[in-house]
Amino acid sequence: MEPTTFVLFGATGDLAKRKIYPALFNLFLDEKLPSSFSLIGLGRREWTDASFRANVEQSIREFSRRQGKDPSFVKQFVETFKYSVLDIGRQEDYVKLKHLIEQREEELHLPPNRLFYLSVGPEHFQPIAANIQESGLGSANGWKRLVIEKPFGHDLQSARVLNEKLSQAFTENEIFRIDHYLGKPMVQKLEALQQNNPVIQGLWNNRHIANVQITANETVGVEERAGYYDHVGALRDMFQNHMLQLLMMTAIQLPRESGFDEVQVKKKRIMEALEPLLKQDVAASVIRGQYAAGSVKGEPVRGYVDEPGVAAGTMNDTFIAAKLQIDDYFWRGVPFYIRTGKRMKEKSTRIVIEFKEQFTTSLTEKKDHAEANLLVIEMSPNESITLQLNAKDGSGTGAVKPVHIDIHPAGEQLPEAYENLIRDALAGDSTFFAHWDEVELAWAWAQPILEAFEENLVPLHLYEAGTYGPSESDELLAQDGFHWWFDA
Ligand code: BG6
Repeated sequence: MEPTTFVLFGATGDLAKRKIYPALFNLFLDEKLPSSFSLIGLGRREWTDASFRANVEQSIREFSRRQGKDPSFVKQFVETFKYSVLDIGRQEDYVKLKHLIEQREEELHLPPNRLFYLSVGPEHFQPIAANIQESGLGSANGWKRLVIEKPFGHDLQSARVLNEKLSQAFTENEIFRIDHYLGKPMVQKLEALQQNNPVIQGLWNNRHIANVQITANETVGVEERAGYYDHVGALRDMFQNHMLQLLMMTAIQLPRESGFDEVQVKKKRIMEALEPLLKQDVAASVIRGQYAAGSVKGEPVRGYVDEPGVAAGTMNDTFIAAKLQIDDYFWRGVPFYIRTGKRMKEKSTRIVIEFKEQFTTSLTEKKDHAEANLLVIEMSPNESITLQLNAKDGSGTGAVKPVHIDIHPAGEQLPEAYENLIRDALAGDSTFFAHWDEVELAWAWAQPILEAFEENLVPLHLYEAGTYGPSESDELLAQDGFHWWFDA
């Protein structure tokens, strides 16, 4: 990996504290950081290098997945970190920053490779990118990269405007859009699972697959984020990005040894083949829900409308279930059911591939309740890949029972999403980042839903907190003869 200066905007913020420093520290322990690495933290607070380092150390102690390590590692990790006060709108501060970066590059003998990580609100993306360009921070004789995190716009139009502005300062190849779901180890294993297993690859199409179910259920409610969440809802917060990315990563068909450009092209093709919804038809395939009071894990919880900071009379969605169809050679006729919700019964992020019953042998006819063959990819709370097959049990009655083959034995210490993503951004590998074409197509696909919600063309179903969402979500599958797997 090439020597790099990591310039972190929002260095005093919550994301940096909870995710970025612990991820960098774990990469450091695993010797996955560039051998020459300089980090410059930026924020409005009047911190010194020493107070910055102390804060980083504290966040590692609190949030790193590796606890109890020799404290000297942490000291060694932060010893070269620098901090500079920066007001996002002030040109002089960028000039000061430029001097600091150059000075550090000289001291540490680094080439001018600079990664600008914007751990700040989306309203700051454009001004920062423009100031980086105007101050000449990105025009040195090395590479530059911009790392940003969703939301990338609020709808199709605003996403296009934002992208247009960013592209005045950075080319598409230089922009790394984080969707942390793409950093999840299980998501990163999906393509390899297919590519390295002809058995699975051979089954990955509409001849063998009856339906695909993608679930991201959470037990938490809106937490302290009503100011943000009440304007975005589940559709913008989870569906347009994380859920559609999971759909792309599941449906993708990749030859072995595919590079990131191939992944990008194939993902774009899936989005292009996604059957568009007309605004007036949204209600037939999208279920909108909002949690009412109930109890989660035995604790009573209030309804969404009573959460602090939520607007009176809000129609915001905290749950979405939808049926999507990919109109291409591989997937035509296979429904993809996707759902995500807050205040659900349990935290679970999983993909279930339900295989078709190919034939009725005497075995299955005799025991007509033989379960479907399933491939289950669990991402949270545990990570595993399980194949559910049917086998005759030993009772002598000829009964057939589901058996499970655990392809990925538990116990392995998996890296966190941010570790994978930061490592890739440092290496310049954009395979697991959201590319503009996908983002734009995802907004274009979601736009009629946004409008249908806005115009109240889709009923808002209340669901009791601590359940699996409104019953209409079950009906969505039942009308096709399916049901959500593993709702207990
Ligand atoms: C974030 C959303 O992107 O993802 C949050 O803004 C949500 O609302 C979170 O809670 C879920 O992430 P994970 O990794 O816990 O499934």
